[in-house]
Amino acid sequence: MSARPYRSVLYIPGSKERALEKAKTLPVDAIIFDLEDAVAVEEKTNARALLAETLSTADYGGRAKIVRVNALDTEWGHADVEALKDVGADALLLPKVDSAEDVQALAELAPGVAIWAMMETPLGILNAAQIAAHPALEGFVLGTNDLAKDLNTRFRADREPLLTSLQMCMLAARAHGVVAVDGVYNAFKDDDGLRAECEQGRDMGFDGKTLIHPAQVEITNAAFAPSEAEIDLARRQIAAFEQAEADGQGVAVVDGKIVENLHIVTAKATLAKADAIAKLEI
Ligand code: COA
Ligand code: MG
Repeated sequence: MSARPYRSVLYIPGSKERALEKAKTLPVDAIIFDLEDAVAVEEKTNARALLAETLSTADYGGRAKIVRVNALDTEWGHADVEALKDVGADALLLPKVDSAEDVQALAELAPGVAIWAMMETPLGILNAAQIAAHPALEGFVLGTNDLAKDLNTRFRADREPLLTSLQMCMLAARAHGVVAVDGVYNAFKDDDGLRAECEQGRDMGFDGKTLIHPAQVEITNAAFAPSEAEIDLARRQIAAFEQAEADGQGVAVVDGKIVENLHIVTAKATLAKADAIAKLEI
């Protein structure tokens, strides 16, 4: 689990001035400023310049700023990195990562800059562990649309065809202490569908979800934040466990369930997350 909240991670096409402005008022934990698939080929060069200028001057408050560059084997990738590596972004996000060598290639172009990886190709999923292990790699973003395309899966509300891939990314991310953010929900007017998919991702362990539209922010923030009931339970578990320890016991019981040291680790993480959310300046 990340110390910094990444509940809501909003994509903004780097070419859309209005959306770049609007994002300053949205309560999102992070923004992905996109130069890749949300930007048309004829807009690539303008978007790069607009984004470099915007990020050098604009104030996005406490929102994490992540720039998605084009892949390095495209005609735009190298120039994107050159223009965006020193504008104060928190990370560069590399699309269609297949292997740790792809991460290394970006690390050599942008030394000292944190790298996030789009996990969206079959090869990338199979290599998730080596990608997560790269020293510059700090975050995974699931690219479920690209992945579904390459796997030739059909859309299913329960995402069963994607679950193995999602879980392989979770395993790799947690094994190497990397943030993991779930893929987008395309039907941005379907609140119930979004809520269900947020809850599924949250239950799998994702830190948050990528979003395509401001209308998705509120539901996502709520789904990935500890609920009042979870906060209350965490407090009661900690109190009961401290009492048990004072009584010379290693185990407590709360609401009919056993509470051991490992549950206290989770309870403290829940409180720390709630605290970090409360302190966010977004
Ligand atoms: N980030 C910030 N603001 C956004 C936004 C986004 N991703 N999407 C829409 N907005 C803003 C619009 O600029 C508009 O602002 P305004 O009130 O100042 O005019 C407002 O939200 C309402 O937008 P709306 O008219 O409902 O959306 P739209 O029809 O213009 O656009 C999409 C719909 C899906 C095309 C647009 O949301 C989008 O481009 N999303 C990002 C797609 C993307 O990045 N994909 C790549 C990764 S999957
Ligand atoms: Mg993609």
